[in-house]
Amino acid sequence: MKVAIIGANGQLGSDVIRAFERAGHEVAPFFHRDIEVANIDSVRQALGLVKAEVVVNTSAMHHVEQCEQDPAAAFSVNGLGAWNLALATRDCGALLIHISTDYVFDGKKAIPYVESDVPLPVNVYGNTKLAGEYFVQTTNPKHFVLRTSAIYGKHPCRAKGGLNFVELMLKLARERGKVRVVDSEFVTPTPTSDLAEQIVALSRSDSYGLYHATAEGSCSWYEFAKEIFAITNTNVRLEVAAPGEFPAKVARPTYAVLENQALKKRRLNLFRSWRDGLRDYLGTGVSSITPVHS
Ligand SMILES: NC(=O)c1ccc[n+]([C@@H]2O[C@H](COP(=O)([O-])OP(=O)(O)OC[C@H]3O[C@@H](n4cnc5c(N)ncnc54)[C@H](OP(=O)(O)O)[C@@H]3O)[C@@H](O)[C@H]2O)c1
Repeated sequence: MKVAIIGANGQLGSDVIRAFERAGHEVAPFFHRDIEVANIDSVRQALGLVKAEVVVNTSAMHHVEQCEQDPAAAFSVNGLGAWNLALATRDCGALLIHISTDYVFDGKKAIPYVESDVPLPVNVYGNTKLAGEYFVQTTNPKHFVLRTSAIYGKHPCRAKGGLNFVELMLKLARERGKVRVVDSEFVTPTPTSDLAEQIVALSRSDSYGLYHATAEGSCSWYEFAKEIFAITNTNVRLEVAAPGEFPAKVARPTYAVLENQALKKRRLNLFRSWRDGLRDYLGTGVSSITPVHS
């Protein structure tokens, strides 16, 4: 298959490229300089050049504070950008795999969200990503919309800059010997390499639709940090941050945990537990997600 990957130097895009190449597919990587998803002419021109059968969109404006400050820009990338890609892929008969987020939910549920739960975003980022989901779902019938959570990988997140959570915790431990982390926000840390393998698997399926796509299980950020330090035998004083110690500038869902119900129903779920994924990332894992080969 010929696969176009948008966001080629992103945290997820880099691993998606590797996963498709490993599976023997021809990959056309698109960097931001090659395509502006918010511009339909740019999208049609770029995709017209490669004639891919599958397009994976990992691009987004997803710095939550920046989205809140510039909702029009966020909507043009996350909403209209998704629409443009859906139009262009529909017109050339290509499959569109589009990445969305746990932030489409308000986080008020106490058990994991499933695909049939009603989304209700609490910030601009979540609203614009939800708009993108709807544009894709209503425009190109050949689509997968994948909602994921708290991704981390070997390549830095372009939008947020700096280190991912795992590397940040290890750096703070090294430099300060003491780390304080919130215990009241729940996520599912998901390695980008595992999500990339799931994307490759779905590209070979015609069970199109909306899917939750995260590692198995969940934890608070504090529990995530605790596991990072346990696996790496890091000598650090880890403490629970006091309520309000790190005040959020923008509202966020406090419980952003997704259940991969649709993947499991269709026997497509490849994800392992977040702890196994973390061990693998840290180089101490024994099990690994089954890579998909063509
Ligand atoms: N990070 C998380 O924890 C998380 C959680 C849930 C869902 N997600 C979703 O996962 C996806 C991938 O995230 P990531 O962490 O891999 O992001 P990332 O590292 O910031 O990568 C995004 C990529 O998209 C490109 N891009 C940005 N705006 C673009 C535009 N208007 N046109 C074309 N390309 C553009 C960026 O290029 P430049 O940097 O050169 O502009 C970059 O290559 C996103 O859809 C995000 O919403 C992320």
